[in-house]
Amino acid sequence: MFRLISKQKILAPRLSRSYIAGQFTGQKKANGNYTVTLIEGDGIGVEISQSVKDIFAAAKAPIDFEPVDVTPLLIDGKTTLPQEAVDSVNRNLVALKGPLATPVGKGHTSMNLTLRRTFNLFANVRPCKSVVGYDTPYKNVDTVLIRENTEGEYSGIEHTIVPGVVQSIKLITQPASERVIRYAFEYAKSINKPHVRVVHKASIMKLSDGLFVSTAREVAKEYPDVKLDFELLDNTCLRLTADPDDYKNVVMVMPNLYGDILSDLSSGLIGGLGLTPSGNMGNKVSIFEAVHGSAPDIAGKGLANPTALLLSSCMMLRHMSLNTEADKIEKAVLDTIASGPENRTKDLYGSSSTQHFTEQIISRL
Ligand SMILES: NC(=O)c1ccc[n+]([C@@H]2O[C@H](COP(=O)([O-])OP(=O)(O)OC[C@H]3O[C@@H](n4cnc5c(N)ncnc54)[C@H](O)[C@@H]3O)[C@@H](O)[C@H]2O)c1
Repeated sequence: MFRLISKQKILAPRLSRSYIAGQFTGQKKANGNYTVTLIEGDGIGVEISQSVKDIFAAAKAPIDFEPVDVTPLLIDGKTTLPQEAVDSVNRNLVALKGPLATPVGKGHTSMNLTLRRTFNLFANVRPCKSVVGYDTPYKNVDTVLIRENTEGEYSGIEHTIVPGVVQSIKLITQPASERVIRYAFEYAKSINKPHVRVVHKASIMKLSDGLFVSTAREVAKEYPDVKLDFELLDNTCLRLTADPDDYKNVVMVMPNLYGDILSDLSSGLIGGLGLTPSGNMGNKVSIFEAVHGSAPDIAGKGLANPTALLLSSCMMLRHMSLNTEADKIEKAVLDTIASGPENRTKDLYGSSSTQHFTEQIISRL
Protein backbone atom coordinates (compact mmCIF):
# COMPACT_ATOMS: atom_id res chain seq x y z
CA MET A 1 0.00 0.00 0.00
CA PHE A 2 2.79 2.45 0.86
CA ARG A 3 5.52 3.22 -1.61
CA LEU A 4 8.95 3.56 -0.08
CA ILE A 5 10.53 6.95 -0.75
CA SER A 6 14.29 7.09 -0.63
CA LYS A 7 15.84 9.22 2.10
CA GLN A 8 17.36 11.44 -0.55
CA LYS A 9 13.89 12.42 -1.80
CA ILE A 10 12.44 13.42 1.56
CA LEU A 11 15.33 15.62 2.61
CA ALA A 12 14.09 19.17 3.20
CA PRO A 13 15.29 21.81 0.75
CA ARG A 14 18.42 23.72 1.74
CA LEU A 15 17.87 27.11 3.31
CA SER A 16 18.32 29.91 0.80
CA ARG A 17 20.86 32.19 2.41
CA SER A 18 20.56 35.33 0.38
CA TYR A 19 16.82 35.76 0.63
CA ILE A 20 15.63 38.86 2.51
CA ALA A 21 11.97 39.62 2.13
CA GLY A 22 9.74 42.52 2.98
CA GLN A 23 11.95 45.37 1.82
CA PHE A 24 10.16 48.26 0.14
CA THR A 25 11.41 48.79 -3.40
CA GLY A 26 8.90 51.39 -4.63
CA GLN A 27 10.05 54.54 -6.40
CA LYS A 28 9.05 58.18 -6.00
CA LYS A 29 7.17 59.78 -8.88
CA ALA A 30 8.33 62.91 -10.70
CA ASN A 31 6.41 65.09 -8.19
CA GLY A 32 8.51 63.61 -5.34
CA ASN A 33 5.60 61.60 -3.93
CA TYR A 34 4.96 57.87 -3.61
CA THR A 35 1.58 56.44 -4.58
CA VAL A 36 -0.05 54.22 -1.94
CA THR A 37 -3.12 52.08 -2.62
CA LEU A 38 -5.90 52.95 -0.18
CA ILE A 39 -8.54 50.38 0.74
CA GLU A 40 -10.89 52.53 2.79
CA GLY A 41 -12.93 49.56 3.96
CA ASP A 42 -16.47 49.21 5.24
CA GLY A 43 -18.42 50.77 8.10
CA ILE A 44 -16.19 53.24 9.96
CA GLY A 45 -13.49 52.65 7.32
CA VAL A 46 -14.57 55.71 5.35
CA GLU A 47 -14.40 57.99 8.43
CA ILE A 48 -11.05 56.78 9.72
CA SER A 49 -9.54 56.86 6.21
CA GLN A 50 -10.68 60.48 5.83
CA SER A 51 -8.87 61.28 9.10
CA VAL A 52 -5.65 59.72 7.74
CA LYS A 53 -5.97 61.62 4.45
CA ASP A 54 -6.54 64.96 6.24
CA ILE A 55 -3.60 64.42 8.61
CA PHE A 56 -1.24 63.28 5.84
CA ALA A 57 -2.17 66.38 3.79
CA ALA A 58 -1.60 68.68 6.79
CA ALA A 59 1.73 66.96 7.58
CA LYS A 60 2.76 67.31 3.92
CA ALA A 61 3.64 63.61 3.83
CA PRO A 62 4.91 62.77 0.33
CA ILE A 63 2.10 60.32 -0.35
CA ASP A 64 -0.63 60.30 -3.03
CA PHE A 65 -3.37 57.88 -2.05
CA GLU A 66 -4.97 55.77 -4.80
CA PRO A 67 -8.36 54.55 -3.51
CA VAL A 68 -9.51 51.16 -4.82
CA ASP A 69 -12.74 49.20 -4.54
CA VAL A 70 -12.34 45.69 -3.17
CA THR A 71 -15.98 44.56 -3.32
CA PRO A 72 -15.47 40.81 -3.73
CA LEU A 73 -16.33 38.97 -6.93
CA LEU A 74 -17.32 35.32 -6.82
CA ILE A 75 -15.68 33.70 -9.87
CA ASP A 76 -16.20 29.93 -10.27
CA GLY A 77 -17.12 29.77 -6.59
CA LYS A 78 -13.86 31.45 -5.59
CA THR A 79 -13.70 34.82 -3.81
CA THR A 80 -11.67 37.11 -6.05
CA LEU A 81 -10.44 40.68 -5.80
CA PRO A 82 -11.32 43.12 -8.59
CA GLN A 83 -8.41 43.19 -11.06
CA GLU A 84 -8.02 46.98 -10.76
CA ALA A 85 -7.35 46.65 -7.04
CA VAL A 86 -4.82 43.86 -7.61
CA ASP A 87 -3.05 45.91 -10.31
CA SER A 88 -2.93 48.98 -8.06
CA VAL A 89 -1.33 47.10 -5.15
CA ASN A 90 1.14 45.33 -7.45
CA ARG A 91 2.09 48.64 -9.03
CA ASN A 92 2.48 50.63 -5.80
CA LEU A 93 3.89 47.73 -3.69
CA VAL A 94 2.28 49.17 -0.58
CA ALA A 95 -1.30 49.64 0.64
CA LEU A 96 -3.12 51.04 3.64
CA LYS A 97 -6.29 49.19 4.55
CA GLY A 98 -9.32 49.97 6.68
CA PRO A 99 -11.54 47.21 8.09
CA LEU A 100 -13.47 44.96 5.72
CA ALA A 101 -16.74 43.39 6.83
CA THR A 102 -17.06 39.68 6.13
CA PRO A 103 -20.53 39.04 4.62
CA VAL A 104 -22.24 36.23 6.50
CA GLY A 105 -23.98 33.53 4.44
CA LYS A 106 -23.03 34.93 1.00
CA GLY A 107 -20.50 32.27 0.14
CA HIS A 108 -17.50 34.62 0.22
CA THR A 109 -14.23 33.80 1.91
CA SER A 110 -13.07 36.61 4.22
CA MET A 111 -11.59 39.42 2.10
CA ASN A 112 -8.83 39.77 4.67
CA LEU A 113 -7.80 36.16 4.02
CA THR A 114 -8.17 36.70 0.24
CA LEU A 115 -5.84 39.73 0.38
CA ARG A 116 -3.23 37.77 2.37
CA ARG A 117 -3.38 34.90 -0.11
CA THR A 118 -3.45 37.06 -3.25
CA PHE A 119 -0.32 38.99 -2.25
CA ASN A 120 1.36 36.21 -0.25
CA LEU A 121 1.59 38.37 2.87
CA PHE A 122 3.50 35.87 4.97
CA ALA A 123 4.35 37.85 8.12
CA ASN A 124 2.02 39.84 10.33
CA VAL A 125 3.91 42.34 12.45
CA ARG A 126 2.12 43.65 15.53
CA PRO A 127 3.90 46.12 17.82
CA CYS A 128 2.13 47.00 21.10
CA LYS A 129 3.29 50.06 22.97
CA SER A 130 1.64 51.72 25.98
CA VAL A 131 0.05 55.05 25.10
CA VAL A 132 1.22 57.73 27.52
CA GLY A 133 -1.77 59.41 29.13
CA TYR A 134 -4.06 56.42 28.53
CA ASP A 135 -3.69 54.28 31.64
CA THR A 136 -4.22 50.53 31.78
CA PRO A 137 -3.16 48.18 34.61
CA TYR A 138 0.08 47.62 32.65
CA LYS A 139 2.70 50.36 32.41
CA ASN A 140 5.40 50.79 29.78
CA VAL A 141 4.41 47.87 27.56
CA ASP A 142 6.60 47.70 24.46
CA THR A 143 6.32 44.36 22.68
CA VAL A 144 6.69 43.20 19.07
CA LEU A 145 5.16 40.02 17.77
CA ILE A 146 5.53 38.47 14.32
CA ARG A 147 2.93 35.92 13.28
CA GLU A 148 3.34 33.43 10.44
CA ASN A 149 0.40 34.42 8.25
CA THR A 150 -0.10 31.68 5.64
CA GLU A 151 -0.23 28.16 7.05
CA GLY A 152 -0.30 26.31 10.39
CA GLU A 153 -3.82 25.81 11.73
CA TYR A 154 -5.19 28.21 9.06
CA SER A 155 -4.37 25.95 6.12
CA GLY A 156 -8.06 25.09 5.81
CA ILE A 157 -7.41 21.34 5.51
CA GLU A 158 -10.27 19.75 7.45
CA HIS A 159 -12.36 16.68 6.84
CA THR A 160 -14.85 14.37 8.48
CA ILE A 161 -13.42 10.90 8.93
CA VAL A 162 -16.72 9.36 10.07
CA PRO A 163 -19.72 11.24 11.45
CA GLY A 164 -18.72 12.62 14.83
CA VAL A 165 -14.98 12.49 14.08
CA VAL A 166 -13.29 15.37 12.27
CA GLN A 167 -9.68 16.02 11.50
CA SER A 168 -8.01 19.39 11.02
CA ILE A 169 -4.48 19.43 9.65
CA LYS A 170 -1.87 21.87 10.84
CA LEU A 171 0.56 22.35 8.01
CA ILE A 172 4.05 23.63 8.76
CA THR A 173 6.63 23.86 5.99
CA GLN A 174 10.28 24.75 6.13
CA PRO A 175 10.10 27.47 3.41
CA ALA A 176 7.20 29.30 5.10
CA SER A 177 8.83 28.96 8.53
CA GLU A 178 12.14 30.12 7.16
CA ARG A 179 10.85 33.28 5.48
CA VAL A 180 8.95 34.47 8.57
CA ILE A 181 11.83 33.64 10.92
CA ARG A 182 14.32 35.34 8.64
CA TYR A 183 12.02 38.33 8.52
CA ALA A 184 11.97 38.36 12.37
CA PHE A 185 15.80 38.41 12.47
CA GLU A 186 15.94 41.25 9.96
CA TYR A 187 13.21 43.16 11.80
CA ALA A 188 14.97 42.68 15.16
CA LYS A 189 18.14 44.15 13.68
CA SER A 190 16.29 47.04 12.06
CA ILE A 191 14.61 48.15 15.30
CA ASN A 192 17.77 47.63 17.35
CA LYS A 193 16.39 44.81 19.49
CA PRO A 194 18.84 42.05 18.52
CA HIS A 195 17.01 39.26 20.30
CA VAL A 196 14.53 36.86 18.66
CA ARG A 197 12.30 34.63 20.78
CA VAL A 198 10.53 31.71 19.09
CA VAL A 199 7.21 30.93 20.78
CA HIS A 200 6.12 27.33 20.16
CA LYS A 201 4.68 24.12 21.55
CA ALA A 202 7.23 21.66 20.22
CA SER A 203 6.99 19.76 23.50
CA ILE A 204 3.64 18.44 22.22
CA MET A 205 3.70 19.05 18.45
CA LYS A 206 7.13 17.58 18.05
CA LEU A 207 7.18 17.41 14.25
CA SER A 208 5.28 20.56 13.20
CA ASP A 209 6.44 23.04 15.84
CA GLY A 210 9.66 21.03 15.99
CA LEU A 211 10.32 22.00 12.35
CA PHE A 212 9.62 25.66 13.14
CA VAL A 213 12.11 25.50 16.02
CA SER A 214 14.84 23.66 14.08
CA THR A 215 14.43 26.08 11.15
CA ALA A 216 14.99 28.98 13.56
CA ARG A 217 18.21 27.35 14.78
CA GLU A 218 19.42 27.06 11.17
CA VAL A 219 18.51 30.65 10.24
CA ALA A 220 20.15 31.94 13.45
CA LYS A 221 23.56 30.74 12.17
CA GLU A 222 23.45 33.63 9.69
CA TYR A 223 22.82 36.16 12.46
CA PRO A 224 25.58 35.72 15.05
CA ASP A 225 24.84 39.20 16.45
CA VAL A 226 21.22 38.38 17.21
CA LYS A 227 20.41 36.34 20.30
CA LEU A 228 17.92 33.49 19.81
CA ASP A 229 15.89 31.76 22.50
CA PHE A 230 12.75 29.66 22.72
CA GLU A 231 9.70 29.72 24.94
CA LEU A 232 6.64 27.50 25.26
CA LEU A 233 3.41 29.31 24.38
CA ASP A 234 1.71 28.72 27.75
CA ASN A 235 4.77 30.07 29.51
CA THR A 236 4.73 33.18 27.28
CA CYS A 237 1.05 33.86 28.13
CA LEU A 238 1.82 33.59 31.83
CA ARG A 239 4.96 35.71 31.77
CA LEU A 240 3.64 38.34 29.36
CA THR A 241 0.58 39.04 31.50
CA ALA A 242 2.57 38.83 34.75
CA ASP A 243 5.23 41.31 33.65
CA PRO A 244 5.43 42.53 30.03
CA ASP A 245 8.64 44.36 30.95
CA ASP A 246 10.57 41.13 30.28
CA TYR A 247 9.54 41.35 26.61
CA LYS A 248 10.71 44.89 25.94
CA ASN A 249 13.87 43.93 24.15
CA VAL A 250 12.81 40.88 22.20
CA VAL A 251 11.04 40.23 18.90
CA MET A 252 8.69 37.27 19.25
CA VAL A 253 7.99 35.05 16.22
CA MET A 254 5.55 32.16 16.11
CA PRO A 255 3.24 29.93 14.03
CA ASN A 256 -0.12 31.30 12.83
CA LEU A 257 -2.68 30.46 15.55
CA TYR A 258 -0.38 31.30 18.45
CA GLY A 259 0.32 34.67 16.81
CA ASP A 260 -3.39 35.36 16.31
CA ILE A 261 -4.16 34.80 19.99
CA LEU A 262 -1.03 36.30 21.50
CA SER A 263 -1.30 39.46 19.39
CA ASP A 264 -4.79 40.18 20.74
CA LEU A 265 -3.57 39.40 24.25
CA SER A 266 -0.76 41.95 23.75
CA SER A 267 -3.28 44.54 22.47
CA GLY A 268 -5.30 44.04 25.63
CA LEU A 269 -2.29 45.06 27.70
CA ILE A 270 -2.24 48.55 26.13
CA GLY A 271 -5.99 49.24 25.94
CA GLY A 272 -7.38 47.22 23.05
CA LEU A 273 -7.44 46.79 19.30
CA GLY A 274 -8.38 50.44 18.72
CA LEU A 275 -4.81 51.43 19.58
CA THR A 276 -2.96 48.64 17.80
CA PRO A 277 -1.39 48.95 14.35
CA SER A 278 -0.24 46.08 12.17
CA GLY A 279 1.63 45.34 8.98
CA ASN A 280 1.18 42.35 6.67
CA MET A 281 4.47 41.81 4.91
CA GLY A 282 5.10 39.90 1.69
CA ASN A 283 8.01 39.32 -0.66
CA LYS A 284 7.04 42.21 -2.84
CA VAL A 285 3.95 43.87 -1.41
CA SER A 286 3.00 45.02 2.11
CA ILE A 287 -0.41 45.97 3.44
CA PHE A 288 -0.75 47.95 6.67
CA GLU A 289 -4.06 47.78 8.48
CA ALA A 290 -6.06 48.60 11.55
CA VAL A 291 -6.79 45.26 13.17
CA HIS A 292 -10.23 46.16 14.48
CA GLY A 293 -13.38 45.48 12.45
CA SER A 294 -15.80 47.78 10.60
CA ALA A 295 -17.73 48.66 13.81
CA PRO A 296 -21.18 48.73 12.13
CA ASP A 297 -22.74 49.83 15.45
CA ILE A 298 -21.09 53.26 15.26
CA ALA A 299 -20.56 53.66 11.50
CA GLY A 300 -21.54 57.06 10.12
CA LYS A 301 -21.98 58.58 13.58
CA GLY A 302 -18.66 60.42 13.78
CA LEU A 303 -17.57 58.40 16.82
CA ALA A 304 -14.84 56.21 15.32
CA ASN A 305 -11.33 56.30 16.70
CA PRO A 306 -8.83 56.52 13.81
CA THR A 307 -5.78 55.83 16.03
CA ALA A 308 -5.15 52.23 14.92
CA LEU A 309 -5.24 53.18 11.23
CA LEU A 310 -3.09 56.25 11.90
CA LEU A 311 -0.47 54.21 13.78
CA SER A 312 -0.59 51.62 10.97
CA SER A 313 0.04 54.44 8.50
CA CYS A 314 3.09 55.46 10.59
CA MET A 315 4.38 51.87 10.41
CA MET A 316 3.87 52.10 6.65
CA LEU A 317 5.84 55.35 6.42
CA ARG A 318 8.75 53.78 8.34
CA HIS A 319 8.61 50.77 6.01
CA MET A 320 9.03 53.29 3.17
CA SER A 321 11.95 54.94 5.04
CA LEU A 322 9.89 58.08 5.65
CA ASN A 323 10.84 58.11 9.34
CA THR A 324 10.65 61.87 9.90
CA GLU A 325 7.05 62.04 8.67
CA ALA A 326 6.15 58.92 10.70
CA ASP A 327 7.66 60.36 13.90
CA LYS A 328 5.87 63.68 13.38
CA ILE A 329 2.43 62.15 12.85
CA GLU A 330 2.83 59.53 15.60
CA LYS A 331 3.88 62.16 18.15
CA ALA A 332 0.89 64.35 17.28
CA VAL A 333 -1.50 61.38 17.66
CA LEU A 334 -0.07 60.28 21.01
CA ASP A 335 0.11 63.87 22.34
CA THR A 336 -3.55 64.36 21.44
CA ILE A 337 -4.59 61.20 23.29
CA ALA A 338 -2.51 62.27 26.30
CA SER A 339 -4.04 65.77 26.28
CA GLY A 340 -7.21 64.63 28.04
CA PRO A 341 -10.64 63.00 27.67
CA GLU A 342 -12.11 66.00 25.84
CA ASN A 343 -9.80 65.14 22.93
CA ARG A 344 -10.27 61.37 23.07
CA THR A 345 -12.98 59.34 21.33
CA LYS A 346 -15.66 57.48 23.28
CA ASP A 347 -13.95 54.07 23.12
CA LEU A 348 -11.09 55.67 25.13
CA TYR A 349 -13.57 57.09 27.67
CA GLY A 350 -13.52 60.51 26.01
CA SER A 351 -16.12 62.82 24.46
CA SER A 352 -14.47 63.77 21.17
CA SER A 353 -15.84 63.14 17.69
CA THR A 354 -13.62 61.67 14.97
CA GLN A 355 -13.42 65.11 13.34
CA HIS A 356 -12.49 67.00 16.54
CA PHE A 357 -9.81 64.36 17.33
CA THR A 358 -8.44 64.75 13.78
CA GLU A 359 -8.35 68.56 14.09
CA GLN A 360 -6.55 68.29 17.42
CA ILE A 361 -3.90 66.05 15.85
CA ILE A 362 -3.44 68.50 12.97
CA SER A 363 -3.01 71.38 15.45
CA ARG A 364 -0.12 69.44 17.07
CA LEU A 365 1.76 68.52 13.90
N1 LIG B 1 -9.16 43.37 9.75
C1 LIG B 1 -10.46 43.48 9.43
O1 LIG B 1 -10.78 44.00 8.37
C2 LIG B 1 -11.49 42.96 10.38
C3 LIG B 1 -11.16 42.56 11.67
C4 LIG B 1 -12.16 42.15 12.54
C5 LIG B 1 -13.49 42.11 12.10
N2 LIG B 1 -13.78 42.47 10.82
C6 LIG B 1 -15.20 42.53 10.35
O2 LIG B 1 -15.80 43.69 10.90
C7 LIG B 1 -17.22 43.45 11.10
C8 LIG B 1 -17.60 43.82 12.52
O3 LIG B 1 -16.89 42.99 13.43
P1 LIG B 1 -17.05 43.05 15.01
O4 LIG B 1 -18.27 43.86 15.36
O5 LIG B 1 -16.92 41.67 15.52
O6 LIG B 1 -15.74 43.80 15.54
P2 LIG B 1 -15.38 45.36 15.52
O7 LIG B 1 -13.92 45.47 15.81
O8 LIG B 1 -15.87 45.98 14.27
O9 LIG B 1 -16.20 46.00 16.73
C9 LIG B 1 -16.10 45.56 18.09
C10 LIG B 1 -16.47 46.73 19.02
O10 LIG B 1 -15.37 47.66 19.02
C11 LIG B 1 -15.80 48.94 18.59
N3 LIG B 1 -14.76 49.50 17.72
C12 LIG B 1 -13.99 48.83 16.82
N4 LIG B 1 -13.14 49.65 16.21
C13 LIG B 1 -13.38 50.89 16.72
C14 LIG B 1 -12.80 52.17 16.48
N5 LIG B 1 -11.83 52.36 15.59
N6 LIG B 1 -13.30 53.22 17.19
C15 LIG B 1 -14.26 53.06 18.09
N7 LIG B 1 -14.84 51.86 18.38
C16 LIG B 1 -14.40 50.80 17.69
C17 LIG B 1 -17.12 48.71 17.85
O11 LIG B 1 -17.95 49.86 17.91
C18 LIG B 1 -17.70 47.51 18.57
O12 LIG B 1 -18.41 47.93 19.70
C19 LIG B 1 -17.44 41.98 10.76
O13 LIG B 1 -17.98 41.88 9.45
C20 LIG B 1 -16.06 41.36 10.81
O14 LIG B 1 -15.93 40.26 9.95
C21 LIG B 1 -12.83 42.93 9.96
